[in-house]
Amino acid sequence: MGTFTELYHSSIGKKLVVGLTGILLCIYLVVHLGGNLFLFKDDGVAAFDAYAEILPSLLVIRIIEILLFAVFIGHIVTGTLVWIRNKRARPRQYEVTKPNENSSFFSRTMFVTGSIVFIFLIVHMRSFWFTSRFKTDEHFSMFATVKEAFTDPVYSAFYVLAMVLLGFHLRHGFQSAFQTFGLKTKKYTPLIEGVGILFWFVIPLCFAAMPIYFLLKY
Ligand code: HEM
Repeated sequence: MGTFTELYHSSIGKKLVVGLTGILLCIYLVVHLGGNLFLFKDDGVAAFDAYAEILPSLLVIRIIEILLFAVFIGHIVTGTLVWIRNKRARPRQYEVTKPNENSSFFSRTMFVTGSIVFIFLIVHMRSFWFTSRFKTDEHFSMFATVKEAFTDPVYSAFYVLAMVLLGFHLRHGFQSAFQTFGLKTKKYTPLIEGVGILFWFVIPLCFAAMPIYFLLKY
């Protein structure tokens, strides 16, 4: 435990925590997207409602939920600490250096994109997770809840914007995590950047397609 605390207090320890939790969150995105694809099925209402009904009844899902929550908190708190430390280390960077030449737009906006994704997560949890866990109506339908949210153009626009910003976050974040792990060598860079496209482009695009689909269909 002592070694872990010492590691966490070092810069590289914090970077490792942000990278590891970030990649775990990426894996979670794949699983989450897989489940949501039921929304696109022909019998979407029945399929999605059955899926949403089973999930909370499984103990393993409850345990994963708690772990996932801890991973999110670990990522957000440690990511913010790394960001503060970097800012303090280079307080006058914009006056003395040309940021465009030393870092990408995506790497410089990690805290901003992460923070907006964080606000999105709170709204998202309130609309879907909280409603399904603490439902009072026995005829509750998750599909109907999703439909109500996504047919609101303001809600859908915010959802799509959040997915664009998640894409920005992962445009830098995905490959940066492998750099932190020391795996971004010449040999693996093409693979990391190739798989990265899945995370920063394809997955956010599929999530964003859902509110757009509901707006067009209903
Ligand atoms: C599904 C949501 C998210 C995913 C998949 C994700 C993923 C990642 C990944 C892979 C990294 C790169 C780690 C590295 O450089 O080693 C990262 C960095 C970062 N994340 Fe997230 N993240 C998410 C949400 C958030 C949220 C909500 C915040 C809130 C502030 C946040 C703040 C940060 C910050 C500040 C960094 C950069 C730390 C640094 O300067 O190295 N992230 N994220």
